[in-house]
Amino acid sequence: MPEVDTSKKEKEFHPEIPQKSELFFLKGSNSYDWGMKNRLARIFNPKSGKTVMLAFDHGYFQGPTTGLERVDLTILPLAPHADALMLTRGILRSTIPASLTNAMVMRASGGPSILKELSNEQIAVDVEDCVRMNVSAMAVQVFIGGEHETQSVHNMTRLVDLGNRVGIPVLGVTAVGKDLTRDVKYIRLATRICAELGAAFVKTYFVPEFETVTASCPVPIVIAGGKKLPELDALQMARDAIDQGASGVDMGRNIFQSDAPVPMIQAVRKVVHEGMSARDAFEYYQTMKNRK
Ligand code: 5RP
Repeated sequence: MPEVDTSKKEKEFHPEIPQKSELFFLKGSNSYDWGMKNRLARIFNPKSGKTVMLAFDHGYFQGPTTGLERVDLTILPLAPHADALMLTRGILRSTIPASLTNAMVMRASGGPSILKELSNEQIAVDVEDCVRMNVSAMAVQVFIGGEHETQSVHNMTRLVDLGNRVGIPVLGVTAVGKDLTRDVKYIRLATRICAELGAAFVKTYFVPEFETVTASCPVPIVIAGGKKLPELDALQMARDAIDQGASGVDMGRNIFQSDAPVPMIQAVRKVVHEGMSARDAFEYYQTMKNRK
């Protein structure tokens, strides 16, 4: 039985103040349910509207690639500087302490290794297991124009349906296979297909005329880093992508293969969240590197 409210204080209902109903801050994301929005707000910082995701899921088809031989030694020191970690469930359970509070973006497709046809992926994790691991999003590779295009699109739409049941958003990752051209026309096609078919956000590569990619994609886009570049070039790419409408980066090799990975991810944060120029961020990187 609840206690009787004996307070003599006048009740403060404030009927004159209408309750605010806020629009959700992320592009195209206002119609989702609360849980889905809350997960997205763990990935994308609600203040800047942007994200710095650290991708180290490469082992799911490449094995122990350079920089990821020992995830415990190379990646864990970077985690405090990332908004989200993009990884596989094997690495999550074996290597990532459950005390970390980063958003986890789970690699949810896989199958072939670099020795086989990469587009022949299937769904590689059960949505129930994603709930168990408290992930903030599930990432699936989509091979538009690839040999197994339809199968990879179906992987994504199936995951979108499963994710919608439990409030987990899907990240559509546009793959660039050996035979696929990485030009703006292709990237526009692939990102738009991911969004049309239900991806809550899309990861793709930065290309010239990127503003037409972000303009024609109705959900947020994050860019992949791609092959290792000189640090200034990688920072400039992040700057250009944000200026042209990207909602963040999901960088791997350009961070963990850097000469100084912690200063590099800190510099990327300056660009993405604080609007710093690439040159200033590069100076910041050098200062932090020399401080070690
Ligand atoms: C593979 C992926 C990888 O996680 C990601 O693209 C790798 O990041 P980077 O290119 O920055 O090393 O999604 O397709």
